[in-house]
Amino acid sequence: MVPTAEKYDVVIIGGGPAGYAAALYGASAGLNIALVEKAKVGGTCLHVGCIPAKELLETAAVRRAIVGAATFGLTTDEPTLDFSVTQARKQQVIDGLFTGLSGLLKRRKVTVYDGIGSLHADHLVTITGGESGDVEITGTHVLLASGSVPRTIPGFEVDGQRVITSDELLSLQELPASAVVIGGGAIGCEFASMMSDLGVDVTILEALPKILPGLDDDLTRVVLKSFKDRGIEVRTGVTVNGHEPHDHDGGTKVLFGDGESVDVQTVVVSVGRRPLSDGLGLDGTKVEVSDRGHVVVDEWCRTAEPGVYAIGDLINTPALAHVGFAEGILVIQDLLGEDPVPVDYGKVPWCIYCHPEVSFVGMSEAAAKEAGIDVVVSKHRYAGNGRALIVGEPEGMVKIIAEKRPDGTGGRLLGVHMVGPWVTEQLGQAYLAVNWEANAEEVAQFIQPHPSFSELFGESVLALTGRSLHG
Ligand code: NAI
Repeated sequence: MVPTAEKYDVVIIGGGPAGYAAALYGASAGLNIALVEKAKVGGTCLHVGCIPAKELLETAAVRRAIVGAATFGLTTDEPTLDFSVTQARKQQVIDGLFTGLSGLLKRRKVTVYDGIGSLHADHLVTITGGESGDVEITGTHVLLASGSVPRTIPGFEVDGQRVITSDELLSLQELPASAVVIGGGAIGCEFASMMSDLGVDVTILEALPKILPGLDDDLTRVVLKSFKDRGIEVRTGVTVNGHEPHDHDGGTKVLFGDGESVDVQTVVVSVGRRPLSDGLGLDGTKVEVSDRGHVVVDEWCRTAEPGVYAIGDLINTPALAHVGFAEGILVIQDLLGEDPVPVDYGKVPWCIYCHPEVSFVGMSEAAAKEAGIDVVVSKHRYAGNGRALIVGEPEGMVKIIAEKRPDGTGGRLLGVHMVGPWVTEQLGQAYLAVNWEANAEEVAQFIQPHPSFSELFGESVLALTGRSLHG
């Protein structure tokens, strides 16, 4: 080990969204920052997560547009797919963002170390195994942001061929003819939707009684109907019991439920992600790690070791890039003594980019009722929305859950759940309304542009006041 004299205001282990957000935000506040990354800055989100997944989903959207072009009077040949071109385009998008992020870190004078960072006593961080060589640095504060990796399940060892996770799927040069997706969460539904739209025969096997945890039941039904109409088989409440590889075609027989099976070419395991706390060291520190591998923190992401924080997928908060960004900003404000307000995890934005898109913030109707709240709901369908009919995507709905006032009208908005065209881009004002703890009549005063998808949110809020326009 070659000791260096380098001492930083903040040393961050892990250069994914949580870590790089803390680095950029901290540097913009004048802090001297070191960022330790064992692969490439950008992390799972940029290289094997959000960005490549959405890029491939966009290919599926382009194909849907071409196939549906005839209804606009545009006739085309049946589109053919060269998935290697799709992959090259995906890589171009990633490379562009990676170059941008690397440049930004450089301009903010963040020192990036290449290697595995481990924390020891007295805020000492050792860096090994990378291009930076063996280095020791210290930080007045240390942020742990080493992220997560796909979870696997017994009986489905990942071999990169028959059994894969999101890591491998995002880099396939050719799509399989058929696939089982184990797990109907965000990743499972996005991949199932993308593969199905690109011609793969898809079956989702989900252990719980419903797919897309957290989404309001009325909206889950909309997604299920669309999946069914497009030939995606969804089986909920089933256990998977292993698989028997075929000898003849490289495929496998997936065993599930009570003696059922399905023969497919590929199994995609998307049963959640596990925190990557393995290589963090932590000897001689008071940092605690839970049985499930999460680093234990308080509301301000502080660990039990003074001056050491943990953020992002490494802690037990929603594993979302934008939550990581928020936590990165929070800890910088906290270590600067600015008394920041903790993240309200029950009201973060959720966006799932399957077709039809899903977005929500706050409580579902069932969750609000379970919490003992008397609620009133307002539901409106995109089938009555001009813009949705114009673009040919009338499938979907907006549902707002509000506290019920004695006169039956809606008070404070508790949750907004959406399924339909571009709802991931429409969630913004719903997010603000719920987090601002706004009342229905306050939000109903605001004007929505016409014609726009967002009118449906406006109509739904207006209806909560006891009066309405179209709905
Ligand atoms: P998830 O936790 O959202 O869903 C996993 C699903 O697998 C659950 O519904 C669970 O019941 C099911 N499952 C678990 N074990 C199973 C088994 N043995 N058999 C059948 N089903 C089983 O995890 P997912 O989808 O893998 O995503 C990982 C993380 O990444 C999540 O926190 C997710 O929110 C986040 N993510 C978010 C995205 C977005 O917001 N657009 C996109 C991709 C990931």
